[in-house]
Amino acid sequence: MLVNSKEMLQQAKKGKYAVPHFNINNLEWAKNILEKCNEMRLPVILGVSEGAMKYMGGCNTIVGMVKGLITDLNITIPVCLHVDHGQSFETCKKAIDAGFTSVMIDASKYPLSENVRITKEVVDYAHAKGVTVEAEVGHIGGTEDNITSNANNATLEDCLIIAKTGIDSLAPALGSVHGLYKGKPNLDFETMKKINETLPIPLVLHGGTGIPNEDIQKAIECGISKININTELQIAWHNGVIEFINNNKESYDPRKVIGAGKENMMKTIEEKNTMFFGL
Ligand code: 13P
Repeated sequence: MLVNSKEMLQQAKKGKYAVPHFNINNLEWAKNILEKCNEMRLPVILGVSEGAMKYMGGCNTIVGMVKGLITDLNITIPVCLHVDHGQSFETCKKAIDAGFTSVMIDASKYPLSENVRITKEVVDYAHAKGVTVEAEVGHIGGTEDNITSNANNATLEDCLIIAKTGIDSLAPALGSVHGLYKGKPNLDFETMKKINETLPIPLVLHGGTGIPNEDIQKAIECGISKININTELQIAWHNGVIEFINNNKESYDPRKVIGAGKENMMKTIEEKNTMFFGL
């Protein structure tokens, strides 16, 4: 069932657990994630970056693919199809018009007043169509979609200002980074807790790859209700494929080559679900 993120994240906030957002890149990614989460009977958010959107052909292809998988595989859990780091109103509008149920508008590279203006424009358009909106304040650093940027932590004041736009969830930059960490992650749990106690909306932790389990646990205790994972699934898949290719130099069937990463992916998805939902 394709749904927006409202209920699943509000329930997570109330129940003190986090719903995973797994980024998808292709059919196999979407299929593996849906199969494993359905088997575990847990809701899931499929995140699509602008780069992945372009790679897969566009918003309509993705909506068609995900809807088709839900029907053909008899997926009966709540599934949210979400734009990850939408860079503009136009990207979010295109995705909403195609049938995405949730969008992230990431205008965090602009000054706060401009971030607020663009975010509000997206909220007005999205809410009229029953679509939920996530925004970012401060700026999450690291590398995603081959774009590298510097981090800039959010303040409680910034969060209060952007929340007035009516967003459904918020990703405050608090020390996590996209991609692999150089050194140990240094999350600002104190500000995270303060924001969670002050704002009624669910909080999102980006850059879930490489954060030690005890820090993930602490982040959930401090009010994180959604955790984004991208790189870790890619690495799990890659390890399986490399091993397969090294042992099967003559094999050229793409289903076997791409499929060789499935087992590792399924294991990682299960581990993340178990940790995030506190099972
Ligand atoms: P990682 O690639 O570090 O897991 O981050 C994913 C993410 O935050 C997507 O928005």
